[in-house]
Amino acid sequence: MNLLVTAGATREPIDPVRYLTNRSSGKMGYALALAGQQLGHRVTLISGPTSLDIPSLVDFIPVETAKEMLEAVKLNIGAQDAAIFSAAVADYRPSFISDRKIKKTTDSLTLELVRNPDILGSARHQFKYDGILVGFAAETENLETNARTKLRQKECDLVVANDISKKGIGFDSDHNEVLLVYPEHTRPIPTESKERLAYTILRAVDDLRVEGG
Ligand code: PMT
Repeated sequence: MNLLVTAGATREPIDPVRYLTNRSSGKMGYALALAGQQLGHRVTLISGPTSLDIPSLVDFIPVETAKEMLEAVKLNIGAQDAAIFSAAVADYRPSFISDRKIKKTTDSLTLELVRNPDILGSARHQFKYDGILVGFAAETENLETNARTKLRQKECDLVVANDISKKGIGFDSDHNEVLLVYPEHTRPIPTESKERLAYTILRAVDDLRVEGG
C-alpha cells in the first residue's frame, strides 16, 4: 500500500536566528516509516528537522514550518491508502517574522502568535482524503476522552493516544505506551519500543483496511 507518515516537530521562525518548536525527536514517525518500508509499503515521509538518519527507500520530504507540512501533505495525500500523522505540529506561529535579528533593546518583548493550519483536520474536510486516517493525540490529562474528541472531530479511523506527562515515554523517548482509540472501542498497548509499536500500529492499519474492504 501507499503510506504517508508525518514526523518530528515543526519550526516556526521568529527572526533569522530564533524559532518556536517542541520536544518531538521524530523517533516515532521514523520508526513507522522504517517499519512500513520493511513491510513492503511505498512510504512517503514528511518530516520536520530531526537528527535522525533518513530511512532508505522512502520518499523523503523535508519541511520546517506547519504551513510547509500542510502543503506537502496536500500534494501527496491523494495517492495514499493510509496516512499516519505522528508529527508534533506547532499550533501557533509568530504573526510576524523579523528579517533582521531582534536586538535586546527592551526589558520585555511580547510575541504575538497566530493559529497554524490543522493539517490532520484538513485531510478529510479540505483534501477530501478517503483512505485510512490515523492521528496521534499527545495529552497530559483525560487521555481517552480527549483522544476520542480528536477522533470524531478529525474523522480519523484510529487515534494513537499517549500521555506525555508520564516519564520514560512519549517525546524524545525510545519507548511509548499508548491507547489505540477506535470509534467503538479502545485497546491499551503497554510500554514497548517505538520500533515494536510501529509494527503494532501498522498491523492495526492493515486490519482497518481489511474491515473496510
Ligand atoms: O517524535 P518523538 O520524540 O518520537 O515523540 C513522539 C510524539 C510524542 C511526538 C508522538 O507520539 C505524538 O504524540 N505525536 C502527536 C503530537 C501532537 O502534536 O499531538 P496533538 O494532540 O497536539 O495533535 C493531534 C493530531 O493532530 C496529531 O496527529 C498531530 O500530528 C495533528 N496536528 C496537530 C496540530 C496541527 N496544527 N496539525 C496537525 O496535523
